[in-house]
Amino acid sequence: MKGKKIIVGVTGSIAAYKAATLVRLLVKAGAEVRVLMTPAAQQFISPLTLATLSKHPVHSEISSESAWNNHVEMGLWADALVVAPLTASTLAKMAHGICDNILVAVYLSARCPVFFAPAMDVDMWAHRSTQDNVKRLLDCGNHLIPVGVGELASGLIGEGRMAEPEDIVATLAAHFQSADTLKGRKVMITAGPTYEPIDPVRFIGNRSSGKMGIALADEAAARGAEVTLILGPSFYGPQHPGVTTIAVQTADEMYEAALMHFPGSDVAILSAAVADYRPQDTANQKLKKIADTLPIQLVKNPDIAAELGRLKTTKQLIVGFALETNDEIPNAKAKMEKKNFDFIVLNSLNDPGAGFVHDTNKISILHRNNKILHFELKSKTAVAADIIDEVATLLSDF
Ligand code: PMT
Repeated sequence: MKGKKIIVGVTGSIAAYKAATLVRLLVKAGAEVRVLMTPAAQQFISPLTLATLSKHPVHSEISSESAWNNHVEMGLWADALVVAPLTASTLAKMAHGICDNILVAVYLSARCPVFFAPAMDVDMWAHRSTQDNVKRLLDCGNHLIPVGVGELASGLIGEGRMAEPEDIVATLAAHFQSADTLKGRKVMITAGPTYEPIDPVRFIGNRSSGKMGIALADEAAARGAEVTLILGPSFYGPQHPGVTTIAVQTADEMYEAALMHFPGSDVAILSAAVADYRPQDTANQKLKKIADTLPIQLVKNPDIAAELGRLKTTKQLIVGFALETNDEIPNAKAKMEKKNFDFIVLNSLNDPGAGFVHDTNKISILHRNNKILHFELKSKTAVAADIIDEVATLLSDF
């Protein structure tokens, strides 16, 4: 935690008094702490208390007179933003980008990981609106510090207590520890679909959105890796500044880019849904609707994964993906063997919420020694963290 720059955001909850302990523990652990408060938070704890503990002025207004008054600057300064306690109201504002106080303005500007520790009464916490908002924050890649169970300010007993400051500090410490696990490593990722042109207007493609590979790129960069993302046509893109994106359209272009970047990479993660075939001929002009049928001769595309598997040295790792609809495990194992992957990530279209387009995925990781890890349905961000954990473990043996 030493030297880490942490912004603590405090909102108007009875649990705001715990923010004092949180700030004290962070400063004690060697972090540089700045505190932001919403107007309501000041009804529960004095800015002077938090300013004294953090040894810096507390900010509570978007247009403050102080020297450090730019919310963009604050968002870029931080290594982590932790909002604790987070009320239902500020949660809703963060989830929907309602930027009427400095805390939400900094949240929207921040490029660092964001942690949030909700605090509210049991029924407010259980309410569908609250849970939808939590999901929105998680889908944006933020980290939930789970609520505790116990007696609440109302006297009711149940879920909704803010996590203890010690647990919040432990979560941040674990995050910073894992943040360096890929430091100095180069990671190449293929993602998204490929589009194989029939004519200037039409193409053969598939349903991949690129979300899974983009989440992997952001996660690897967050762990300190230098990431090259070779991305087929996608409406989405990475958030992390440590990711360099190479945009491609066709399997051939993806193949060329992968061959160029693989030799300098420690790890290749191949999450792209590459078209196995392309039209043999591409018309220069838009094809006209004349005949009742239009045969299109297809020829095989290069198999990027198989070629990288052939080129792989003993100092490189390749992680493959398998998208299956039947005989999932045998099919995935066969692909892992054939393409010389170190492990393969299996997702099945038979699992609701898994595979293409969804913000969630449900995977199994198959290792070469027959070890299989099954994971529950999670956000693609959380799935990416599970996959990168496996990569980091294997790399530590190199
Ligand atoms: O992009 P999203 O909407 O988030 O969806 C994510 C995903 C479903 C596309 C992703 O999770 C996934 O499963 N990707 C692999 C899909 C696939 O095409 O698998 P496959 O079983 O056909 O291919 C096996 C492996 O070989 C894959 O690592 C693939 O990238 C690679 N391959 C395949 C063909 C080819 N010509 N070149 C390759 O590199």
